[in-house]
Amino acid sequence: MTGDLGKMTRSVVLVGLMGAGKSCVGRRLAQRIGLPFIDADTEIEAAAGCSISEIFQRFGEAAFRDGERRVVARLLDGPRCVLATGGGAFMDEQTRAVIVHKGISVWLRADLDLLVKRTAGRDHRPLLKDGDPKAILGALIEKRYPVYAQADLTVDTADRPAEVTVDRVLAALAEYFASTASLPKALG
Ligand code: S3P
Repeated sequence: MTGDLGKMTRSVVLVGLMGAGKSCVGRRLAQRIGLPFIDADTEIEAAAGCSISEIFQRFGEAAFRDGERRVVARLLDGPRCVLATGGGAFMDEQTRAVIVHKGISVWLRADLDLLVKRTAGRDHRPLLKDGDPKAILGALIEKRYPVYAQADLTVDTADRPAEVTVDRVLAALAEYFASTASLPKALG
């Protein structure tokens, strides 16, 4: 970790819609800044002992959000990391409050066509199974983007290699810490 990122005492939390590249960018970002990478969805699956689709099917979305809330809180109480969250995590009031207080949140913003392209042909996302994925993602953009906009940083992802987005996140973090290093959040 170099320069102003040395002042970063919190975990970096990636938020954004399904297909925005949170896991892919997160893994590379973690390598670049020398922190462990954790995928919240993978942790939820490990804690539940079954896949996210199965959790939705057997117990319902509310039970999934409950598990997600607990897992994200536990992870952000642990050692610093780069944490990729599932697309709905930041929409949950309690989970969002934990992320706001304990992490530096980065919204990976992507346009509809890119999200459709990136989620196509994958069938592990229960929310995209019942209906036209483009219509579903479009409705989620309407509902969620105003909330994702509360993240500390917003980084546009492009239809380019993940490293391009990683560079943008690193630049945004460096700028954030250079300009807010004296504020409590950056020190906490
Ligand atoms: C969800 C996104 C998924 C996963 C679950 C619900 C959502 O994660 O948490 O299927 O509500 O947007 P990804 O964003 O990693 O696909």
